[in-house]
Amino acid sequence: MRYFVSIGGASGSIYGIRLLQELNKTGHEVHLVVSEGAKTIIQHETKYTYNVVKTTAHVVYDNDNLYAGPASGSFLLDGMIVIPCSMKTLSAIAHGFGDTLTSRAASCCLKEGRKLILVPRETPLDLPGIKNMLMAKESGAIIIPAMPAFYHKPERIEDLVDFIVGKIFDQLGLKHSLFKRWK
Ligand SMILES: Cc1cc2nc3c(=O)[nH]c(=O)nc-3n(C[C@H](O)[C@H](O)[C@H](O)COP(=O)(O)O)c2cc1C
Repeated sequence: MRYFVSIGGASGSIYGIRLLQELNKTGHEVHLVVSEGAKTIIQHETKYTYNVVKTTAHVVYDNDNLYAGPASGSFLLDGMIVIPCSMKTLSAIAHGFGDTLTSRAASCCLKEGRKLILVPRETPLDLPGIKNMLMAKESGAIIIPAMPAFYHKPERIEDLVDFIVGKIFDQLGLKHSLFKRWK
């Protein structure tokens, strides 16, 4: 299986980093793009740097590289995850803008009927953000907001992050024990 992870410039880089770490354990092929904004936010919000994060992927692209494989629908992917997804990139994806590798690859996933998971993070939500989520959903994307639950009794920030990563694994059909299931 081959997955494409895009870490965007919303708050919550740790969600993307934990997803990469867990995907790595599965042995599947992981391709990665980190937006320019996200490179700085990773450094600001986490104990990681971009240089460390990129070692967890098999192939790494720049977000302005529209010649990269995932920019074409003929490049086979078993799923793409934009995590966290900024409102800007959500808008580009919802409207098929295709200006970055992330938004172009996401459009390719939608047009080819491949799994596209978006993890938007913003609060409060403005009307364009809500409408863009609706439009992306109607186009076939799966929306998993960075909105962890509490019924698994989280004790650490990692437990909250892993809940979201586990929900992504569920959508990808990958087994995990990232959170305790209800009953
Ligand atoms: C520290 C920081 C935190 C940010 N958090 C968010 C956020 O949570 N959600 C969001 O939509 N944009 C957020 N932004 C703004 C985005 O980084 C900005 O809109 C950027 O153009 C997004 O582009 P990208 O998705 O290509 O990274 C943040 C910016 C900074 C500097």
